[in-house]
Amino acid sequence: MTDTLSLDAELAQLRESLQEHNYRYYVLDDPSIPDAEYDRLFQRLKALEAEHPDRVTPDSPTQRVGASPLSAFPEVRHEQPMLSLDNAFDEASLRDFDRRIHQRLEMGLETPIDYACEPKLDGIAVSLLYENGVLVRGATRGDGTTGEDITQNVRTVHSVPLRLRGDGWPARLEIRGEIYLPKAGFEAINERARSRGEKPFVNPRNAAAGSLRQLDPRITAERPLELCVYGVGLVEGEALAGGQVETLTRLREWGLRTNPEMARVCGIEACLEYYQRLAEKRNGLPYEIDGIVFKVDDLGLQRRLGFVSRAPRWAIAHKFPAQEELTLLQGVEFQVGRTGAVTPVARLKPVFVGGVTVSNATLHNMDEVARLDARIGDTVIVRRAGDVIPQVVRVVLERRPADAVKIELPAHCPVCGAEVERTEGEAAARCSGGVSCGAQRKRAIKHFASRRAMDIDGLGDKLVDALVDSGQIEQLADLYRLEHPRVAGMERMGDKSAENLLQAIEASKTTTLPRFLYALGIREVGEATAVALVNHFGTLEAISRADEQALQAVPDVGPVVAQHVAVFFQQPHNLETLEQLQGAGVHWPAVEIMPKVEQPLAGKTYVLTGTLEQLTRDEAKQRLQALGAKVAGSVSKKTDCVVAGPGAGSKLAKAESLGIAVIDEVALLELLEQA
Ligand code: IVH
Repeated sequence: MTDTLSLDAELAQLRESLQEHNYRYYVLDDPSIPDAEYDRLFQRLKALEAEHPDRVTPDSPTQRVGASPLSAFPEVRHEQPMLSLDNAFDEASLRDFDRRIHQRLEMGLETPIDYACEPKLDGIAVSLLYENGVLVRGATRGDGTTGEDITQNVRTVHSVPLRLRGDGWPARLEIRGEIYLPKAGFEAINERARSRGEKPFVNPRNAAAGSLRQLDPRITAERPLELCVYGVGLVEGEALAGGQVETLTRLREWGLRTNPEMARVCGIEACLEYYQRLAEKRNGLPYEIDGIVFKVDDLGLQRRLGFVSRAPRWAIAHKFPAQEELTLLQGVEFQVGRTGAVTPVARLKPVFVGGVTVSNATLHNMDEVARLDARIGDTVIVRRAGDVIPQVVRVVLERRPADAVKIELPAHCPVCGAEVERTEGEAAARCSGGVSCGAQRKRAIKHFASRRAMDIDGLGDKLVDALVDSGQIEQLADLYRLEHPRVAGMERMGDKSAENLLQAIEASKTTTLPRFLYALGIREVGEATAVALVNHFGTLEAISRADEQALQAVPDVGPVVAQHVAVFFQQPHNLETLEQLQGAGVHWPAVEIMPKVEQPLAGKTYVLTGTLEQLTRDEAKQRLQALGAKVAGSVSKKTDCVVAGPGAGSKLAKAESLGIAVIDEVALLELLEQA
């Protein structure tokens, strides 16, 4: 700033420019400066205000959060009632709406009416009162006549302007709109709630309501709420000219966020087309909508149509199929995944929700079952939003029958009968069957054949799938019983490749004990652990006989690894597999020397985030560790690389902001293969 500018002029300029940048960011979605520059302007304003507290104004951009917690929200009587909308659930009801309007206006059906079309956001209706352009009050709808004063909470919402832009606004202007949580914000706050062991919100609407009803505005300020306006209430002073769309366009110029999808169309057919178009776009929108609001655009016609009970005759909400429904939890089945995770799946009385009939929903794990307190026979709320898999989000306890049955984790795997284990601190229960479990077979074989395990060249993932699907491999040892003609007859095989494959399988019979042990895919037993076990016990027999205590005497083997190893060797299926493999000719030299494991990633720190599809988190961690890497839980300057899968959130963002290398799972697998 130059010396010639007085303090007041600088303050005014900073505030105006911050307000303008806010407008560009939140309303136009077109920021003109980087965030860092915005932060600098903001910090400069804060510093000046701290030096001159007498110059702080309530509409200064620094004054969003400040008020102290309330003990209750004061009541607000709406000077103009906040109405609700009639609903149309199908095309016929929407056509009826249009017909009624024509009748009332005594217009022939051949004269089309102009309608404003607006997505119906699923949040909380709010009233924002501006006096001489300054926000003086924010209120909830309440019962339509009396709401709650939530001024200090709405002030924390960045898209709510504390002062209107430009000029020409009426002296008193009440804006009506919806405060909502975008989908990403909803996921983020639920993720945070889960990580703190708190109950997640059922849907974005509840999350928005819960956030706005906080007595402490600092909590509201932490929630990424947004505003979208759809109309006006009280107008005093200058009148507003024009129809609905024109009014909203003015509001937007004054700095209020409106929905970019808003459109004016002519006639009911065009309304139906708009509805269809938005229905197709719905899943891709960054916020939830539950329908389309159609409003007669012309204000004169609106006045002539008037109201019936609590809803205007000139507007209607054409709803999309509901995303939440009630249904009955008829049973729970346990499914075993490729990684051995035993997952409870709810069998539901079929129900139409989110546009499809749903009869199954994952219950994730036993912790989730406990959190929901779900029992068989319960009435539950099922939610299916967009392409997301259906979820049981809540139990309706009031409807619980006396004979509701508790859900218990089975003691044995429903696929192979091996014991089901639960490790403390881990949500998933797992089948301990490993290589012997049918559900884990393909994955177990792929691991067994992999380069750092039995190193069977040419036995790729697709071929394993095909061999299992065609029934040629049911158990690991069947690998060593494959026959040339059948293999050669498989798709994309042929004589030569079959011969090469069988030769590679034959060659793999000569191996080392650490490789073999690692190839068995015992949970938490990576290459380094396999070597340590072999170095300590010397023979497979000794390892298989060791109890948990004896196993813990091995360097780096803690109680968890010891338990996995012990349980593995207790399973009759697994012992049988070992016998068969050795019977088929798999052998290794007696252990004398201590093989040294290569550690190409020594000194490097990795962080895993998001969902991995080919590997479990554990496996990825173990394999990185086997190569010498450290695997940390959070991203810092010391991190060398972040492995990010789908759904990666704050860790990925942090890595990007620190300029740390980010790779995906495919690149990770390549890295592991090459190392
Ligand atoms: S107009 C007099 N427009 O839906 C008209 N409402 O069921 C009153 N809503 O309480 C509302 N998006 O919270 C209108 N574009 C939109 C809307 C919308 C969401 C909500 C609003 C209202 C409820 C009525």
